[in-house]
Amino acid sequence: MDFNLTEEHLMIRDAARDFAQTELLPGVIERDEKQSFPDELVRKMGELGFMGVMVDPKYGGSGMDAVSYVLIMEELSKIDASASVMVSVNNSLVCYGLEAYGSEEQKQKYLTKLATGEQIGAFCLSEPEAGSDATSQATTAIDKGDHYLLNGTKNWITNGGRAGVYLVIAQTDREKGHRGINAFILEKGMEGFDIGPKEDKLGIRGSDTHTLQFNDVKVPKENRIGEDGFGFKFAMKTLSGGRIGIAAQALGIAAGGYELALKYSKERKAFGTEICNHQAIAFKLADMYTEITAARHLVMAAACDKDNGDDYTRSGAMAKLYASKVAMEQTVEAVQIHGGNGFVKEYHVERLMRDAKITQIYEGTSEIQKIVISRSLIKE
Ligand code: CAA
Ligand code: FAD
Repeated sequence: MDFNLTEEHLMIRDAARDFAQTELLPGVIERDEKQSFPDELVRKMGELGFMGVMVDPKYGGSGMDAVSYVLIMEELSKIDASASVMVSVNNSLVCYGLEAYGSEEQKQKYLTKLATGEQIGAFCLSEPEAGSDATSQATTAIDKGDHYLLNGTKNWITNGGRAGVYLVIAQTDREKGHRGINAFILEKGMEGFDIGPKEDKLGIRGSDTHTLQFNDVKVPKENRIGEDGFGFKFAMKTLSGGRIGIAAQALGIAAGGYELALKYSKERKAFGTEICNHQAIAFKLADMYTEITAARHLVMAAACDKDNGDDYTRSGAMAKLYASKVAMEQTVEAVQIHGGNGFVKEYHVERLMRDAKITQIYEGTSEIQKIVISRSLIKE
């Protein structure tokens, strides 16, 4: 199924596949064990144009479409979901947020470096008491005339240690509820901005996740994104596209598990034949391929909606809900097909299974995707 991909789409997909095989695969087990990811690999992803895929070339981006973006995400995620979450946050949350809603000055100052990978971005919405319930922001930003004074805590921040630029959501006027929330651009090293230790995680262990602390951080007025009170809508609109990226990540994790399982089942022999000749295994392969293909249709449909200028909030949520379920279920099957070998690191599928789980949690849990989808159906 090629979804009428253009020559350009096929080229970018092959470039991402090649990069994943030659640069990400070696060392992926060690990076998972050590919870590390070398700057050198981030630099290479930037050189290939993966850090600003959809950004206008005048801001240093690759000027490609959302279909190209999901193709890149899928290929990177087949091998290393830690690399792809870095790419996803930088592209669909930080670069998109700045390009779509930032001022020209903000774009010149921040977007160009982010789109080339010279700097990495982080998107800071979640808090200890405001995860799914994102309007309950406790971080405050008090208007002090020429600047805002920021205080509070953000947790679970992807790229939290590596980033140079942070988009931070905070409450400026509690009485106004979600209309009293704003989004700000912060830079690493601002006085009063502290980065906590790296979380020790089940999966995507190469990606750094940190708690951030703000103690009287002075944020210049010009670092607010959009009109006063636009911050919650900024976060929601940005996440609508972000969810397409995570859906593509989930698809890639599932497809990576399937490809390994298919290969293994054609090599491993039991009871005098390759295990793929046992119907129980063959049927698992059939189910895996069917589910993954269905997930790919939803991911491509959401990316096409975005490219066509159609609303993609519902289709992105559907793609994430379904693809993340497929990733979780089918990586468990990939481990099963590998038998005992599936349980050890050397065969990669146990890592894919651990990495799959996060796709049902971040950028809105599966339960939250159902809220988004059902509300849009009822509203229609
Ligand atoms: N686009 C534009 N506006 C939107 C919107 C969207 N997709 N979704 C909501 N809004 C608007 C609503 O229209 C409403 O505005 P009005 O009052 O003017 O109509 C306003 O936002 C408030 O919306 P709701 O009343 O629907 O708000 P809610 O409190 O019921 O919450 C929610 C809605 C969908 C559950 C939302 O809180 C949510 O998405 N929660 C999940 C948070 C999340 O996804 N966090 C991810 C953090 S980033 C991350 O995770 C990155 C990573 O891991 C890599
Ligand atoms: P809670 O909101 O406490 O939810 C707990 C459970 O209750 C979930 O199953 C949830 O679905 C369910 N639940 C809650 N409300 C409802 C409801 N109304 N109806 C039905 N069920 C409900 N955040 C960022 O801002 N930036 C990042 O870069 C980022 N990266 C992350 C990376 C990792 C590795 C992790 C683990 C998280 C990251 N997050 C990030 C945070 C992530 O978005 C949140 O964990 C997620 O939104 C869920 O919030 P929570 O953990 O507070 O769970």
